[in-house]
Amino acid sequence: MTRRRLLVLTALGACLLVVVGAVAGARRAPAGGRADRALAPAGARAGAGGAGGAQAGSRGLGDPYFPDAGNGGYDVRHYDLDLRWDPGSGRMTGRATITARATQALSSFTLDLVGMRIDRVTVDGDRAPARREGDRDVRITPRRPLARGARFTVVVAYAGGQNRVGAVSPVEPGWFADDTGDVYTVFEPIGAATLFPSNDHPSDKASYRFRVTAPAALVAVTNGRLVRTTTDDGMRTWEYDEPDPMASYLVQVAIGNLDVVRGRGPDGLPLRDVIDEDAGRRPAALARVGDMIDFYDGEFGRFPFGTYGGLVVDDNLGFALETQTLTLFGEDAADQPTVVAHELAHQWFGDDVSLGSWRDIWLNEGFATFASWLWESHDRGVPVADNAALAARSSGNGVPPGDPGPEHLFAGSVYDRGALTLYVLRHAIGDDDFTTLLRTWVRRYGGRSATTADFEALAEEVSGQDLGPLFDAWLRSDEMPRLSDWVGGDDPAVR
Ligand code: TRP
Ligand code: ZN
Repeated sequence: MTRRRLLVLTALGACLLVVVGAVAGARRAPAGGRADRALAPAGARAGAGGAGGAQAGSRGLGDPYFPDAGNGGYDVRHYDLDLRWDPGSGRMTGRATITARATQALSSFTLDLVGMRIDRVTVDGDRAPARREGDRDVRITPRRPLARGARFTVVVAYAGGQNRVGAVSPVEPGWFADDTGDVYTVFEPIGAATLFPSNDHPSDKASYRFRVTAPAALVAVTNGRLVRTTTDDGMRTWEYDEPDPMASYLVQVAIGNLDVVRGRGPDGLPLRDVIDEDAGRRPAALARVGDMIDFYDGEFGRFPFGTYGGLVVDDNLGFALETQTLTLFGEDAADQPTVVAHELAHQWFGDDVSLGSWRDIWLNEGFATFASWLWESHDRGVPVADNAALAARSSGNGVPPGDPGPEHLFAGSVYDRGALTLYVLRHAIGDDDFTTLLRTWVRRYGGRSATTADFEALAEEVSGQDLGPLFDAWLRSDEMPRLSDWVGGDDPAVR
């Protein structure tokens, strides 16, 4: 039942994808053609030390699906974001203080920023000229070139309204505000740049500090934990800290008539659900989150962050999004235990261990889907094999989860055939090695970004088996393999 509803949600997403994909239009050629930062750190070509031979940082990271997303030549350590929300005008006024390290000698560099007016930029305290380059980049030229390895601080003052990024997703990513003054963010995959200047790619994770100022009658929440609030002249500022590295698309900033419900999870983990008052009661499925964390702790290793909870907005979005420590749920998605379990699993798979490139998307969606099968088996006794058999009946043909292409980033195959890949892998290497594999994966790559190749290598390392044929068939072949060819006739999934 819930499983069916999840499929409906996925199908709904797929339908919307078709529409959004058509609007997105042609994509530009790769900017730098550079491989993932996770594989090849940018800047290997500049000499060590000094700013001699400084070059312009590339406008993109050469992601195979979104070549202009992110920027070359530096690595962000920390974002300090000041956001002031004016519901009357629908404008957000921002000041971003970005601390980064140059990975090459830089004569100039870019930041991703979509559709905002830039008022002032400084680099290490000096005014620096900034000009637009293409539709999602701003090129900044510091007064003096930056040496390779140098730490530097960029401050960008800016302002503007809502914008959308024409990328493939259940909705066009961006920040959303309605006429009642409510705000929330939906950035996957490359929409964070509509709200703040960023290195908008999951291969460059950073810690965050947020200060959100809004009329004092409203409540503001973000990822992480509340540090303090201050009130001045009818406006309240909410300060939050997210110390754990976070990919830009996982940022959540929500403002509105919000109820914050606090609790405690396993080992005293602070839990926090945030419910839009117009969305009604806190959905019962969210009350199971403590039990789910307890279960996943045992399967994957301890919950990776300092807090967790759901943000339920007053819209029937037909989806949820695993924004770090504070998952966004459409009103319609929040009361589905399978969806709640899926999003929670993303905190390990996607949020803690992040994508090296968008081509690796099955590392998020296949894993979260498989994890929700484990939860259903644990909680309700639904055999994992039953979920596998259901998924095997879905159409995974034509969209290999290991390279779905940007138009099919969130296609059903990425979820179902991706999860089946883990199911046949578990069958091939056995339960014990499989559990060791997932736990080692999180321990080794948590806080960082990793690729499909990293996962395949670790699976072979842990099991001592040649798994090339399995991954080729399940992740990369056009046609979905027959489950019965991989799990043997005595498995109930085959019947
Ligand atoms: N990652 C979401 C999930 O848990 C689905 C999703 C993909 C999404 N892209 C999105 C949700 C964009 C909101 C916006 O399956
Ligand atoms: Zn997901």
